[in-house]
Formats: sequence, C-alpha cells, structure tokens
Amino acid sequence: MERIYMDNAATSFPKPECVYQAVDHFNRHMGGSPGRGTHTQTLAAGSLILDAREALASLFNIQDGANIAFMLNITQALNTAFRGCLHPGDHIITTSMEHNAVARPLFALTGIGIEWTAVPCDSEGILDPEAIAAAIKSNTRMICIQHASNLTGTIMPIREVGEIARQHDLIFLVDSAQTAGLLDIDIVDSNIDLLAFTGHKGLLGPQGTGGLYVRPGLDIDPLILGGTGSHSEFLEQPDFMPDRLESGTPNTPGIAGLGAAARYILATGCDRIFRHEQALVSQLLEGLGNIDRVQLYGRGPGNRCTAVIAFNLEGMDCGELSMRLDHDYGITTRSGLHCAPLAHQTLGTLQSGTCRLSPGFFNVPDHIEQVIRAIHTIARTS
Ligand code: ALA
Repeated sequence: MERIYMDNAATSFPKPECVYQAVDHFNRHMGGSPGRGTHTQTLAAGSLILDAREALASLFNIQDGANIAFMLNITQALNTAFRGCLHPGDHIITTSMEHNAVARPLFALTGIGIEWTAVPCDSEGILDPEAIAAAIKSNTRMICIQHASNLTGTIMPIREVGEIARQHDLIFLVDSAQTAGLLDIDIVDSNIDLLAFTGHKGLLGPQGTGGLYVRPGLDIDPLILGGTGSHSEFLEQPDFMPDRLESGTPNTPGIAGLGAAARYILATGCDRIFRHEQALVSQLLEGLGNIDRVQLYGRGPGNRCTAVIAFNLEGMDCGELSMRLDHDYGITTRSGLHCAPLAHQTLGTLQSGTCRLSPGFFNVPDHIEQVIRAIHTIARTS
C-alpha cells in the first residue's frame, strides 16, 4: 500500500532532497561547533549558519540576518518573545484562533500580572482587524497573531494588524508556523517587530529548527543564558543579536538542512508552492463536496486559507475516521484538537474535534483522488 502523507500542517514530509543531503553532509563531513574556537571545522560550521541566516533573511525581507536567532522550534521562539518583552502590568492582544504555543505561555503569564485579551474571530475563524484596534488599552504593549490557523488554514490580515500596531506604537509579533515558506512574509511591509518561525513545516527543513527575528533596537531578555562563543570573559549575557538569544551549541545539522530548504524555496518561489497546494485543495474540496456526510469548517465564501482542511463525517468520531484512513488506506491525517482548543471553541468543535487534511508541495492530484475515494467509501460503508 502506497502511503499518502496529508499532515503537512503538523510537519512537512517528505523534504526536498537537498535538505537530506545538507544534514548528512554536515554530520559526516563537517562537524565543528560554530563560533567556538578558530579551527577549520568550527569556521566552516559558522559560515554554514551564516548562510542559513542570510537565506531566511532574504525570504522575509530582513536586512541583516544577524537579527535572526535560531531556536529549537517556534514554541521556544514565542516563549522567548513573551517572556523577553512583557512585564507585570503589560497587556497583550491575540486572537481566539491561536495555538497552545501562544495560549499556554500567556495563560501562565496572567499569573504574574500580565493581562491577556483574546479577540474573538467569527465562527469561520475570520478576524476583523478593527476588533484588535478596539481592544487596545493604555497598558497594551504587544499584539500577537498567527499568520494562518493550523486548524482551518484561515489567513489572518497581518498587514492591517501590523499597521494598527505601528499607529499605536505596539510590538507586533507574528506566529508564522503555518505560512513561512508558503506565503510572502515581508517584515517591513507588515511592520513586524518579532517574527517567530519554525523550520519543519512550510519551510521544508528538519524538525528541531526554528527561530525568532527581532527588530533592531527592540529590547528583549533571553529565555536561556549560557555560552555563546563571544565575550566569554564577561559573566553577563551578550547584549547583541543573535548571541543574546543563542546560548549553547545549536542544532547545526538541522540548520544546515534548514538553510538548504530556504534556498530551495527561494529558487522555487513561495507563490509556486502555494499555487500547487491551492490546486490540490480545490480538488479536495470539490470531491468532499460530493460526499453527503462531510461537514467542513472554516471554509465559507471569502475565507482565504492555506492548504488545511478541517472536516468531520457526520455521526463518526474524528479519531476513528483518522485511524481508518491510516490503517485501511495508508492516508495520514491528524484528528482531535490540534493543540488549538481556543480555535476549536471558536468554530464550535471543542467537543467533537475534527479530522484535518493538509496536503503539501510533494502531493499530486492522484493522491487527492485516492483520499476522496477512501473518505467516500468510509462514508458509504459505516
Ligand atoms: N501545531 C502542529 C499541528 O497543527 C503540530 O499539527
């Protein structure tokens, strides 16, 4: 049975060949801890990291790659942004569609006197930017929104919200987990002060990679302190980027893969990847539309989405549906709450959960045909 991977919203698979090669090449032939010492291997590792930073900087229109700190994943980046910029008495605004990577750290911060408002999106997951503006108070310090939902794919109006943040002199943090590598992200155009990204989804890199862009001049405290290979004579953590936020030996093989992935995306073009995935989604939606028991979420007219489809089969538990697709048809989906209970609450699916299909750049129309046929058969026979 050929397996069909439809869980790219969780982690993209497979990766471009150049990513596998870059990771393997570093592990087999390079080694070296970047920035630690001056021998040939350490310098080569350092320059590999620099190349990866520059490729990502090009992708996001960041002028100086040194303002990107590499981290293990976007969760670490978001936690760093919150803990590094917010203080007791500050107020932060998010949406009601955010992932637990945002919701859990903020819930914890409310315990030390940070105020949090999650502006409600409508039942399709759509955000009205004016609702963000209306939630601003005298102590508001930051607005944080996702660029797209990991549940419905709904694309958020980051340009409009960035403009609101600029007008009110607020820090604007964007969670690009579901869009980096797929949608054009321009930190200048969207007034982004902090951009959290993960390497292993749309950026097509390995797991264990991600990072945080920090606008020059924005004061941010590190979450983790330690050796950076720089200013080692001082006990104070360096105050310059990226060393301020990068302590300990990084995941250099992973970053080698991420750099290769970013260059692959630059050469391929985000728009080409996005258009390919959108064509697969249109095919999926057309097929699912012909199956009586299918209930779709967040797919109303006017809802612009990434390649993520949340659905249920009426009368069937989403976990059972996902398991049958996996075991009987080799089709990989994710069911349940997708670490996004607030988003499910917004959609009215907190009790039921949903099944989620998220095709990627390496899926082809034949995969979609097989997925539609499998769901059709399950709907008819159970
Ligand atoms: N946040 C990831 C997902 O949506 C893991 O599945």
